[in-house]
Amino acid sequence: MRDGATALASGLSETIVQVALPGRSYAIVIGEGLIASTGRRIAQALPGARCAVVSDENVAALYLAPLKASLEQHGLFLGEAIVAPGEASKSFPVLAKLSETLLTLGVERGDCVIAFGGGVVGDLAGFAASILRRGVRVVQVPTSLLAQVDSSVGGKTGIDTKQGKNLIGTFHQPSLVLADTSVLSTLSPREFRAGYAEVVKYGLLGDAAFFAWLEQNWTEISSGQGGKRRHAVETSCRAKAAIIAADEKETKGTRALLNLGHTFGHALEACAGYSDRLLHGEAIAIGMRLAFTFSVELGLCPAGDAARVERHFAAVGLPTTIASIPGTKPAPDDLLRLMAQDKKVKGGKLALVLVRGIGAAFVEPDISLPRLTEFLTRECGRR
Ligand code: GLY
Repeated sequence: MRDGATALASGLSETIVQVALPGRSYAIVIGEGLIASTGRRIAQALPGARCAVVSDENVAALYLAPLKASLEQHGLFLGEAIVAPGEASKSFPVLAKLSETLLTLGVERGDCVIAFGGGVVGDLAGFAASILRRGVRVVQVPTSLLAQVDSSVGGKTGIDTKQGKNLIGTFHQPSLVLADTSVLSTLSPREFRAGYAEVVKYGLLGDAAFFAWLEQNWTEISSGQGGKRRHAVETSCRAKAAIIAADEKETKGTRALLNLGHTFGHALEACAGYSDRLLHGEAIAIGMRLAFTFSVELGLCPAGDAARVERHFAAVGLPTTIASIPGTKPAPDDLLRLMAQDKKVKGGKLALVLVRGIGAAFVEPDISLPRLTEFLTRECGRR
């Protein structure tokens, strides 16, 4: 790991991807060294808004000082609220405490919350912003690969309950997303790989050429050499921006494609107690492999495509089987019960994102439960 100051000393070019929504369009700014310009960018994009920063202990230790300095330079800094790192912070007790801290800091309707961290901070801070004084604006400053390519864009916010992940939440689009790719160099290799699973997802769900490019270039993407990492982030953000513009609230079937691997993955995460045993991206890698294998079994997808997906995840060092989850293994019944809580369940029918091949995902609205039970029983027994 490099230290925060070294990571921030990189170059300054940037790309802007626009998320086009009626009356609420916003920019995703992608580039190196963006954190130092946060104050200027917020002063321009949200004139008059002061900022409360929500972060976690790890990100704050590395990067809060330069973010705060940039906000103070423009007279925008109201204060900070720091939560414990990890999925356990996406809970009602942490949300309640955070909301009260933000009120104590004096956040008013015209101000904004900055969600400064990975997916947990983005989801939690976005949710707090959406209910604070019936809604204040949020600026997402994602610091993990997963948050830069997925969770900071599109306005999904939420917390977890024992019934499942992200079952309580809101749609609350950010006013601006600042994805500073230089901070990715301080991620552990495991966190980076977990975020990379979400990058692969864009290839698998709708862009076979991007998946082929990832197969060729993943070593440079993980080492951060030669602009490949930046290209992977930009391509992912463009894909997500197009999907959000087409189906903001997941009512038309397009946005649901972003859940490729997630119905399986969320159930696996719940079985692992949302712990370090299984990171979100790792669960999604297993979930996407399961979606491909299940699609092959249903006669929908060529077996060669599923094998290619499994090979790529294995080459990168991502898990692909339920057996590879450390500790107690989930039972098929537990997985089915959790999958039945999925937000895509309609009239008691379980929908799943399946595939006709690499780059060809679709929503199957009525999954055969006996076939799924049989499949999961076999996968839970696979070594
Ligand atoms: N991460 C899935 C979505 O934003 O819809």
